[in-house]
Amino acid sequence: MKWDFKQIEQDVLAEAKEISSQSQLESFRIKYLGKKGVLAQIYASLAALSVEEKPVIGKQANSLRKIIENIIKEKKKTISHASSDIDIRNLIDVTIPGVATEQGHKHILTQTIDEICSLFERLGFVIYEGPEIETEFHNFTALNIPVDHPSRDAFDTFYLEQEDKENKGRYLLLRSHTSPGQIRIMKQNTPPFAVVIPGRVYRPDAVDASHSFMFHQIEGLLVDKDVKFSHLKGLLSVFCKRFFGEDIKMRLRPHFFPFTEPSAEVDISCYICKGKGCSVCGRKGWLEIMGCGLVHPKVFEAVGYRKNAYTGLAFGLGVERIAMLKYGIHDIRLFYENDKRFLVQF
Ligand code: PHE
Repeated sequence: MKWDFKQIEQDVLAEAKEISSQSQLESFRIKYLGKKGVLAQIYASLAALSVEEKPVIGKQANSLRKIIENIIKEKKKTISHASSDIDIRNLIDVTIPGVATEQGHKHILTQTIDEICSLFERLGFVIYEGPEIETEFHNFTALNIPVDHPSRDAFDTFYLEQEDKENKGRYLLLRSHTSPGQIRIMKQNTPPFAVVIPGRVYRPDAVDASHSFMFHQIEGLLVDKDVKFSHLKGLLSVFCKRFFGEDIKMRLRPHFFPFTEPSAEVDISCYICKGKGCSVCGRKGWLEIMGCGLVHPKVFEAVGYRKNAYTGLAFGLGVERIAMLKYGIHDIRLFYENDKRFLVQF
């Protein structure tokens, strides 16, 4: 069979011009390069040719194949998905309203911690965060709560099965208050200093509307020379007024903490009934918000300070409790349930 290569090439070029989709390109490829395509037929016909003709026709066939391969290569680049047979408009309904990503915000507990800490920062305090896994020394012993002392019960906590190698085999624990931060600060610094220590604390309490095995505290510690109880009272009354409002009243009630002497609990006049007595304050007119006192000399001794060299004040408040009072939240569990209906309110 005689092949008219000129004519075939002309056909190829003319057809190539018309190709505008993937499927047209594929039919073109099959027509010329396929198993039963034009080139396959040409190559098959070579066998019947004479020795002289074979290389001539073979050469022409090869250059035709190159032309076709190049066309396919170029077309592949230019045919985009948009011009393919699949009309994208059938796959995507551009009229369906989009899904907006909602912007989150800080949790109410974080907001409360931030607000309290920045209030103390403006009074000259710096923020320090201690570890949640503590040693018995920091959590109890250095705070004048010796092993077997009954006051450990009130702070008893979760123990880890890991030994505290530094302290001769006693166990590590989850801190039951932020007061161990006091010990760390005092060991690492020379007075004067003033710090607030926010963070999580753990106690093996059964969960109910006002108890949780994990909650947040903010500790305060100021150590200097000649710190007096009047400084403590003045500082805390400034805090209460700035945080709860100018018309709030504050009182200190004698109390006991092993690591402060004298010690007190801080009450504020009930923000709902203004001190008249209601269900939130249990008809007392007062709400307890924190513990405080002057740093016990035994604590200074435990961190290696010279006797009578320094005096200090300390306080510790429960963040959940304060947020519950300020925002009228009646169940502590709401803070941890991640219910958006609750979270969006703050
Ligand atoms: N650590 C005490 C508690 O958890 C609170 C406190 C802190 C009391 C500092 C006095 C001074 O209850």
